[in-house]
Parts: sequence; C-alpha cells; structure tokens
Amino acid sequence: MASAATMALDYEALKRLDHTYLWHPFTQMQEWTGEDPLIIEKGDGHYLIDVQGRKYLDGASSLWCNVHGHRKKELDDALKEQIGKIAHSTFLGLSHLPGIELAEKLIEIAPRGLRRVFYSDNGATAVEIALKMAFQYWQLKGEKSRTRFASLVEAYHGDTIGAMSVGYSETFHRFHLPLLFPVLRLNPPHVYRYFRRMKENDALASAIQEAEEAITREKHSLAALIMEPLMQGAAGMWSQPLGYVKTLSEICRKNGILFILDEVATGFGRTGKMFACEHEGVAPDILCLAKGITGGYLPLAATLATEEIFSAFLGEYGEFKSFFHGHTYTGNPLGCAVALASLDLFKTEKILDRMQPRIAYLKRRLEEDFSPLPHVGDIRQWGFMVGIELVEDKATLKPYPPENRIGHRVILEARKRGIIIRPLGNVVVLMPPLTISEEELKGLLDVTCESIKVVTER
Ligand SMILES: Cc1ncc(COP(=O)(O)O)c(C=O)c1O
Repeated sequence: MASAATMALDYEALKRLDHTYLWHPFTQMQEWTGEDPLIIEKGDGHYLIDVQGRKYLDGASSLWCNVHGHRKKELDDALKEQIGKIAHSTFLGLSHLPGIELAEKLIEIAPRGLRRVFYSDNGATAVEIALKMAFQYWQLKGEKSRTRFASLVEAYHGDTIGAMSVGYSETFHRFHLPLLFPVLRLNPPHVYRYFRRMKENDALASAIQEAEEAITREKHSLAALIMEPLMQGAAGMWSQPLGYVKTLSEICRKNGILFILDEVATGFGRTGKMFACEHEGVAPDILCLAKGITGGYLPLAATLATEEIFSAFLGEYGEFKSFFHGHTYTGNPLGCAVALASLDLFKTEKILDRMQPRIAYLKRRLEEDFSPLPHVGDIRQWGFMVGIELVEDKATLKPYPPENRIGHRVILEARKRGIIIRPLGNVVVLMPPLTISEEELKGLLDVTCESIKVVTER
C-alpha cells in the first residue's frame, strides 16, 4: 500500500487511510466512517481548500482560534524567521528571546494586576495550571482547608481531569464522573433555558443571589471560582448579561477567594474587546489564555497571575515551594514568535476597531433574518461569538431530540454551499475570523440562514 505522502491528492486513497488509521476528537467514528471526510489541503485568507480543490469559508475559525485568516504573511514570516534560529528549546532551566518578549507584551495588554506569565500549550493545560496554582497558593499561605473550586453549571474548560472536573458537561464527561473531583456548581443566568425567558435582570438577580449564598456558605473551603466570562462557549453559547462577571468577582473578593477567568475562547478579540472581562471592567487573579494567542497558528497557552500569587511561591530551594509543573513544549519559541507577530497585527491593522461595524452588521442580520424563522428559538451573541438555538417548537421551547442531528444537518447543508461551521448539539455556532470582510460575513449569514431553512422546513 502506498503511503499518504506518495498518494498526494488521491481523495479515495486518503479517505481509506483516514478511515483505517485515525480516531478523530469529539467524533462518533461509526458515523464518520460512513461519511465522506472533508480533507483540507491548504488555507488562503478566510478560506480552507480541500484536496479536491474546493474552497470553503472558515466560519468556525478552525475551532475558534483563527484571528487574521490563514497564511497571513506577517505570521508566516515570523514563523520562518524563528525557524531560521531555533524551533524548540526548553523553558525548564533555560529561557529564550520570543518567550521573554511575549511575556512583556502579554502583561502590557492584560487586565490590571496580572504580572506573571506561565506558558503551556493548550487551553486545558492553561486551566490545569490555574487550578494547581490557586490550590498551592492557599496551601503555601497556610489556609489548608481551601481545597475546593466553584464553577458554573455546564462550564467547559477542557478535557484533562482537572479541567473536566470544574467544567463538567453531562454529554462529554459522564463516563469519567468517578475520576472527577467534586466542585461547587453555580447556575449561570442563562435566560433561555434555565430561567425560561425570564427578563434578563430577573435572571441575573436570581443567579447572583444563588452564587452569593453558596459562596458565602462555603467560603472557608473554597480556593477559587473559575468561569468563562460573558459566554459559556461549549455549553452551546450560553451568554451572560452584563453585570454577572463583575458581581461574581466582587463576591469572590469579599469572601477572600481567588477569581479565575478562562478566556481561552473569549480572549484575543473574540467578543469585540481584547479580553471579555474588559466589557465589565474586571480583572481576575488568574487568567487562562490559549486558542487565539498565536492567531490560530500554533499550540501555545498562557496562565497569567498576580504578583501576590507569584510571591507566595518564593522561598529557599529547600522549602520546596516551587510550582512543580511544566510541559516539554512549555513556551515553544515558534508559538511565541507567531504570537508576538499576531499581537503586532492587532495594533497595526486596528483589528478591534475594524471589527465593530461587522459586529453591528452581524447583530442586525441575526435579528432581522434569523429571529423570525419558525425554528430559531434563541440567538446569543457577544462580538464574533454567536449561537443560534434551533427548537422543534418555538412556543414551548421544545428542543429537537438529539437523534434528529439537527445542528449537524444544518452544517452539512452549509458545507454544500461552501461554508464550514460547527454545531453544538442543536445550536448552530458562528465564529468567523476577526478580519472577515463584510461581503464574506454576508455570505456566511446568507448560507447559514438558507441551510437552517432547508433543514428545518424539510
Ligand atoms: C473556555 C474554554 N476553555 C478551555 C478550552 C480547552 O482548550 P483546548 O481545546 O485548547 O484544550 C476550551 C476549548 O474549546 C474552551 O472553550
């Protein structure tokens, strides 16, 4: 049998190899092997091109991480320049140029008070590090009973054991339940499902009251609260009304527990500001970053902490207060070099300013064209993060049964029309690259609307 490399672009051969050897993430492989896989060969701006030469708009930003499009010259150049120097050197016991420079730049743009950068290589590790840091912080401070975490119902923080524990999702994690540590779970102010279309302010007041009571009751056992600010992405784009993040941060402060924000999905411009917490004027004690940090090019993550947390770990070597955590590819220089170039583009190309009219356009189109559709139950948007929830019955909010695969069917229709998007169950997700043009955005919305109509009216 010839190898994939020698088969070049022979679609059928590649498909056979994929179906024979691969196990894809978050994928029912029985279904996958019954379908024709889309095999990507290259990218070009906001488009993905498959091995058969078909072009698709990347409406999911390659799993929510692409910022400036594919094959962005400045990012390609930064990568080439760094590779001309060194691809990888460890951060354990050694340092390197792009890692140092990037740390300074991250602290420059980070919410106030964050002073230290601890690198890793994906969102889940950024979260594990945050949890371990918070936990050890209290041990080092002598408050040894602070061993638990609070988090939001249906939060998603990644797929490692600690991240799964604080982010438990019934669908994703039920088989691993016995492995997960117990967590204090707070109901977020998810208006559409949790509070049955209560007014936003009433849902907010209710969720805050519940959080305040639970946190106050358990304050002596809690190390930290961790949350995704403004939008719980993987839950199905559950948005939070303004005021929730700020009030939770104040409740944490009042009760002396650490406040961790997971901005793996919301960070780097996704909500229209560099970090989602800026919408609320809030600064966490620990911030988790990944995905968009390299513009969507390379696996790099960072956990940022305050000097107060950092200084608790200082001492003589023999006191063994060090943070004994690290990964082989911690702070990979290629990732850091590209991240630096990406941050530069945010400035030189005024990415955040240029997004604003497109965010407004997106909002208008969602209201005018999607809201009236008979099976669109709810639309949730923060910047370029959008969830369109499809329901069988709009009046009663009755969901489509999971076996109906409604979201999956919509994205297959969209694919036929040259758009790549991904669903989360019955929620169709739109997550375009931040530099998408208005014309491309129009195409994304036209096709998504058409695909929803075709599938739900069938
Ligand atoms: C909020 C949030 N945290 C953490 C993660 C995990 O990131 P990764 O897939 O890079 O491990 C994700 C991934 O979608 C996420 O949305």
